[in-house]
Amino acid sequence: MAKEIKKIAVFTSGGDSPGMNAGIRSVVRACAYLKIECVGIYRGYQGMIEGDFAPMDARSVNNIINKGGTILKSARCEEFRTAEGRKKAHDQLVNAGIDAFVVIGGNGSFTGALLFNEEYNFPVMGMPGTIDNDILGTTYTIGFDTAINTVVEAIDKIRDTASSHNRLFFVEVMGRDVGHIALNSGVGAGAEEILIPEQNLGLERLLESLKRSKKSGKSSSIVIVAEGDKTGKNVFELKEYVEEHLPIYDVRVSVLGHMQRGGNPTCFDRVLASRMGVKAVESLLEGKSNYMVGIRDNNLILTPIAEAIKAHTDIDEELIRVSDIMTT
Ligand code: F6P
Repeated sequence: MAKEIKKIAVFTSGGDSPGMNAGIRSVVRACAYLKIECVGIYRGYQGMIEGDFAPMDARSVNNIINKGGTILKSARCEEFRTAEGRKKAHDQLVNAGIDAFVVIGGNGSFTGALLFNEEYNFPVMGMPGTIDNDILGTTYTIGFDTAINTVVEAIDKIRDTASSHNRLFFVEVMGRDVGHIALNSGVGAGAEEILIPEQNLGLERLLESLKRSKKSGKSSSIVIVAEGDKTGKNVFELKEYVEEHLPIYDVRVSVLGHMQRGGNPTCFDRVLASRMGVKAVESLLEGKSNYMVGIRDNNLILTPIAEAIKAHTDIDEELIRVSDIMTT
């Protein structure tokens, strides 16, 4: 019979995302409500290995629902990839009397949790926290909505100056492996072209589209480039390439960078994180383990972590079509 769960740990891991604090708050408060002890682990798996733990009660998470970043800090931890590292982490959890954990993070963090569960039969539950929205088993990850709103706000501002000077801007957004941020913010901000890792249409098509756009009477243009796009050129090289082949354009580059990961979470991300945290704790108490909480059709669902980490989510083909039509 599975061991009764009396103490649950929560931590954030990998790249941070807005709404992680709301997720921590939700796990802590769900534990308090259900009379389960809760422990926060600082700096993800690194803190687990080092025993960097702090007891948390309902009041330790006051006034954090609105804050970006993560009060528990986050880290990418090489040591946890080793069996020795995971053994140290397990010893620390056992010493602290922790019976299960909730990890808020992305694919890498879930892979670690799965290995840990397989080695120690330790109950784990995942909550998807990444701005990239690239995790299977959920339509939305915590932080994605905030990130695309941040990007749209930034591009609106860039558009003002682009339009004043009749310029073309290449705007680089995050998305190492996937183009969800680029595509959604691109449609939302009315970009002329969106370059994403899932689709390499080639540089010729970019030139054609820019030519068309000039011909059709547009005086300024925004091209969004996901950092993992497959043109083989970074934004600065793209600028040079276009300047060389289309001297009619005065081109500038803007790399939005890590500002996309910060800021107060949107209401959507706060509600999502709050719902997911409750579901994560309740599921552990029901004896479930090795799942990630996700959302689909506005219902919370559980997906085995092994499935969630198999691949990245597919790009939305319908949205690509809409984007193509909108650039007419
Ligand atoms: O959180 C995921 C992500 O935003 C990727 O899109 C990006 O490539 C990466 O983080 C950058 O992470 P860092 O520079 O913090 O290691």
